[in-house]
This record gives sequence, structure tokens and C-alpha cells, in this order.
Amino acid sequence: MQKRFEGQVVLITGGARGIGMACAQRFADEGANIAVVDLLMDEAEAIAKECRDKGVEAIGLKCDVTDEDSVKAAFDAAMEKWGRVDTVVASAGIHTGAPVDQVELKTWKKAIDINLTGVFLTNKYAAAIMKKQKSGSIINISSMAGVISFPATSEYSGSKSGVIGLTRSVAQDLAPFGVTCNAICPGNTLTAMVKEVARTVGSGLGMTADEWLQMRANDCPMKRLAEPWEMAGVVAFLASQDSRYLTAQAIVIDGGITATA
Ligand SMILES: NC(=O)c1ccc[n+]([C@@H]2O[C@H](COP(=O)([O-])OP(=O)(O)OC[C@H]3O[C@@H](n4cnc5c(N)ncnc54)[C@H](O)[C@@H]3O)[C@@H](O)[C@H]2O)c1
Repeated sequence: MQKRFEGQVVLITGGARGIGMACAQRFADEGANIAVVDLLMDEAEAIAKECRDKGVEAIGLKCDVTDEDSVKAAFDAAMEKWGRVDTVVASAGIHTGAPVDQVELKTWKKAIDINLTGVFLTNKYAAAIMKKQKSGSIINISSMAGVISFPATSEYSGSKSGVIGLTRSVAQDLAPFGVTCNAICPGNTLTAMVKEVARTVGSGLGMTADEWLQMRANDCPMKRLAEPWEMAGVVAFLASQDSRYLTAQAIVIDGGITATA
């Protein structure tokens, strides 16, 4: 594998699991030092150790992306260790879903807090560092649900559409400083999150989790769900020199599903 990020520093929120974890593994494979930032400290440290075993430096940092002091502390820790942050991936997120008349305000607020405010805070502290550096890439993980909408996902879709609007604005704030900001919009990707959705939504429809996952695969022109590493490859491209003129975009990686909507 090429080593495009040797000596660079990558901070990943939600890095303990799923798409964020796949990004940590990919950037470590390509030589970057990694800050694995997550609510789940033990899992974050385990992924950091996996990265160190690949020969790079890595730290696990406990952080709640909804808490400004906590996000600031994670960036401060990365700066203290390495003195720079080249790429930030905002992957921390949750999925919630119910028909809109059944969504409690606290559920709405939680989804917006983690999925949108968490990305805002992550971008805010990344921007402060990258503006001074006059270089950097921010990659926010939105969703195909931010582009097309499905029933019973008002709070999730609302938060993920918000991430796309936020990304476009942040990109313009940072473009004069040589910093890019893009979003990716994954389709269904085989992570703990999607398996939990399969279990809960599937059971509401009288289906097993596997039947629900198969139904989602059948909806997709590629007839399968994505693997987390397939998201990480595009994230790495967005952090690389090959995409320096690419900013303010929301790149849909969904095996073609949105084309059928
Ligand atoms: N899996 C999919 O099908 C899919 C599709 C589209 C978009 N996404 C988005 O991709 C991102 C990653 O999802 P995933 O599938 O890898 O999920 P996941 O549940 O496997 O991982 C999410 C990670 O975020 C962390 N996290 C949650 N709340 C946090 C908080 N307040 N502070 C810090 N960390 C927190 C979790 O601990 C976990 O490690 C999310 O933003 C999700 O909405 C996922």
C-alpha cells in the first residue's frame, strides 16, 4: 500500500467503531499518526494499539462530541503530542428512527446534538488549527439519508442534511487558507449501527435482521451493502494531494441507490 500520509496527523471522532475505525486503520496503513476519539475509551485505545502495531503513533482519547470542552480537550491533546492536525474525520454519530408523530423531543435533540452539533464542534476546533497551518482536510460523515429521505427517519435525515449544509459553509470559510472540507454520504454500510437498525426496524416489520439487510441489499443496484473500508478509501482520497481542488462537496457512496429514488 502507498504511504501518502507519512508523518501526518489524523484525528477521527467515532474512531472506535465502524466507518471511523476503518478510517483509522486505513490512515495508519498509509503511515499517518492517529488520534482515535470516541465516547468508548477502551475501544478507542484498542484501535489506537492496532494502529501502533502498524508502526505509527496513535492515542485513544475519550470525548463526547456534544460537549465543547471535551472536543477542545481532544484537539489540545493531539496538538500537545504532535503540534499539528492534518486531517479530521467527523464520524461520531447515532441512528434513531420512528414515524415523526412518535419522535419525542428528547430523541430529536439527541440526534441533532450528536450528529450535527458534534460535527459543528469538531469542525470548529479543526478550523482554528488548520487556518493557522494553512493546510488541512476535514471530512464529515453525512449519509445518503441527508440527500434522499426515507420514512421514519426525520431526526436522522434532518441531522444528516444539516451536515451537508454545514460542510458547504465551512468549506467556504476555509478555502482561502488552503483547507478543504467535504462530506461523504454513505449508503447502508455493515457496521454495528446498521446491524442494530436491522434488528430494531426489521423486528417492527416482522423480519429478522438478516432478512432486513437482504431487503436493503436488494434495493441497491449493486445488490449488496458496503463494507466500512469502502468508505475509508474515499475519505483517504479526500485527505490526499489528489483532491486539493475538491471542496464543499457531498460525495454519495451508495452503490447507486440514490439514482433509483
Ligand atoms: N453504517 C451505515 O450504514 C451508515 C450509513 C450512512 C451514514 N453513516 C454515518 O457514519 C458515521 C459512523 O457510523 P457507523 O456505522 O460507523 O456507526 P458505529 O455505531 O459503528 O460507530 C459510531 C461511533 O461513534 C461513537 N459515538 C457515538 N456518539 C458519540 C459521542 N457523543 N461522542 C463521541 N463518539 C460518539 C460510538 O461510540 C461509535 O464508536 C455516523 O455518523 C453514521 O450516521 C453510517
